[in-house]
Amino acid sequence: NNYMDIHALAHSNKRDVWEIDTKNLLIQEDHLLGNGAFANVFKGIVKGKIPLFIVNNSLNLIVESENNGHFDAAVKKLPAHADEQNHLDFFHEIDFMKRLGHHPHVISMLGCVSNPIEPLIVVEYCQRGDLLKFLRRHKDYVLMNKNDECPIEADMCLRIKDLVSIAWQVADGMSYLASKNFIHRDLAARNILLTKSLTAKVSDFGLCRYMDSALYTAKGGRLPIKWMSVEALKLYEFSSKSDVWSFGVLLFELFSLGDVPYPTIQQVDMLDHLLAGGRLGQPLKCPNEIYQIMTRCWADKPDERPEFNEMRGEITVMLNFDD
Ligand code: ADE
Repeated sequence: NNYMDIHALAHSNKRDVWEIDTKNLLIQEDHLLGNGAFANVFKGIVKGKIPLFIVNNSLNLIVESENNGHFDAAVKKLPAHADEQNHLDFFHEIDFMKRLGHHPHVISMLGCVSNPIEPLIVVEYCQRGDLLKFLRRHKDYVLMNKNDECPIEADMCLRIKDLVSIAWQVADGMSYLASKNFIHRDLAARNILLTKSLTAKVSDFGLCRYMDSALYTAKGGRLPIKWMSVEALKLYEFSSKSDVWSFGVLLFELFSLGDVPYPTIQQVDMLDHLLAGGRLGQPLKCPNEIYQIMTRCWADKPDERPEFNEMRGEITVMLNFDD
């Protein structure tokens, strides 16, 4: 039964290098970073002289770097009303984060608490929060031309090149995930986090799955309809190529500064809309080269969509272009 599974999982996680002693963890309960139906995220501090484990991907070594400082962190918790399935999903996410390894454009787990009653996931803190809210805050402060001056505080202004850079970083993080055969299934601006220096990190692995075969089929549950590909909507088929579709929708969010996709279409009508050829239009501030990438992400046939590393290469060319 599920209850046993949770205990077995929690037990198997005990004493491993990821485990954080709760006495070294301060959760700032009055500083809510985000809340969803399935988890609450609080600002936290990992304190004291704790070993910080960094998994070196290529060598699979665990490097211990000691520090006496305090690490800013984000602490993910189950809500009080969580049921057994939510607990299982949460332990699945812990397990997933352990296997993820480290990449600059993917959120890293600093540690976890795998206590079966109140498990916690502790990840690196991203000061500027999620990309969707960030875009909406900056909507009126986008500079279009090279010589435009920012009329207000300098760091409130964004240039098209900053958006292109964010697109590059997300493509980079996603090509890492795809290379490890992980599918995200919930790639969207709300699930990208930004650090103080505007580094973008792919986050929220609640729906993430490791694929043994090239395709993952999952029915039901909470699904991000407007970010889903035709085959995901129709057949519940997920792959790196359905993540590529979602990346196209994310590019739309990025260059429209946080517009809602297909605002006039009901979720239940999305499949028919896509089958009839309906696609998102080019946002006002979206360069043509980016819109061309977006439309290729929305090819009917998954095979006809580009790979993440291919798109990363194309966006690199745009970034090196001196406008
Ligand atoms: N909201 C959700 N996760 C976060 C994180 N790691 N840093 C900042 N805000 C967040």
